[in-house]
Amino acid sequence: MDLRSLEIKVSRSENLPVLPQIVSQVLTLADDPNASARSMERLIEADAAIAAKILRVASSAFYGNTPVPTIGRAISILGMNTIRALVVGIAYQQIMSGRTQSQLFSKVDFWRHCLATAIAARVLGKILMPTKADDLYCAGMLHDVGLLVLDRFAPGDLDSALKTAMEDGMPLYQAEDMLYGFNHAMIGDRFHRTASRSPIIA
Ligand SMILES: [Fe+2]
Repeated sequence: MDLRSLEIKVSRSENLPVLPQIVSQVLTLADDPNASARSMERLIEADAAIAAKILRVASSAFYGNTPVPTIGRAISILGMNTIRALVVGIAYQQIMSGRTQSQLFSKVDFWRHCLATAIAARVLGKILMPTKADDLYCAGMLHDVGLLVLDRFAPGDLDSALKTAMEDGMPLYQAEDMLYGFNHAMIGDRFHRTASRSPIIA
């Protein structure tokens, strides 16, 4: 296994993604100061399941219990930051419903770890850099997405690294560096870049 071949597999998987492509695209748009609310609207409308959930949140009692008919209206009620956190949360619910390929990788432990990291990042963010607290929450949720790429495209390699890390009592990234010459953080970085280049956003 090498990084380049994993990157090719991710870019070819199109609608069988590790994380729905919409996540990277929404994060990229939310970070782009020149992006319009209309581009975000088009992106969300293209994913029926996510669009329906966002409309439900915008119409909920918390936001006034008034039916919200369009995604455009939902974006103006909720704001870009809330939309971004919602899309990441919904995408993770979708991941949790899928089966793992790897024998040793636990999606429940993965989810708990990502959520704990995200919440800790937001708490620290609120103290140290309040305007970035929501960005930090999303970064925490996504920081280990490389493990999902490995589980999907190289489950045997992931099992070997998990086994080595457990048996030798070393952090997983060190076992990966030793076995593959790179680690899940580097894969996550490539994955995010590959998914953000999708034509839907262009
Ligand atoms: Fe982690």
